[in-house]
Amino acid sequence: MLTSRDTARKPAMRRILFVCLGNICRSPTAEAVLRAKAPHLKIDSAGTAGWHIGKPPYGPAIAAAALRNYDLSSLSARQVHSQDFQDFDLILAMDEDNLADLKRIQPEKAHATLRLFLDYAPETGQTAVPDPYFTRDFEGALDLIERASDGLIASLAP
Ligand code: 4NP
Repeated sequence: MLTSRDTARKPAMRRILFVCLGNICRSPTAEAVLRAKAPHLKIDSAGTAGWHIGKPPYGPAIAAAALRNYDLSSLSARQVHSQDFQDFDLILAMDEDNLADLKRIQPEKAHATLRLFLDYAPETGQTAVPDPYFTRDFEGALDLIERASDGLIASLAP
């Protein structure tokens, strides 16, 4: 039986922010995939860089996701800001560079836990979602994002 001490030990992780570099390929894809799988969570995405602020996700990423019934079309890019470290419980980085950048800009009294997204897909043996903007492997990125989303949801289950 679950006691109140057990539940107290596992903090609620309901507000989740995905972070990549440009916020036009990997993190908006993860946002849409997790939203489809877990609509009860608060989910957003952002980039460490500000190059694409206000722009929709990259066309080929929208198209690849649409083939699996994930809708990225209404999203627009934004940059990570310090308030995100208070507003989200979990900030998930797509690769080690994103994680290092997040740690660098993290305010001193941050609430959010920072992790690599693929921590939730250890069976893949990979730590980073390779950037399909450069690799052109949108299917491979989606495969990893779907697996890690399933692992994340399993980890959040009471
Ligand atoms: P993302 O991919 O970090 O997965 O959104 C990128 C998209 C664009 C650029 C870099 C990464 N860029 O250099 O414009």
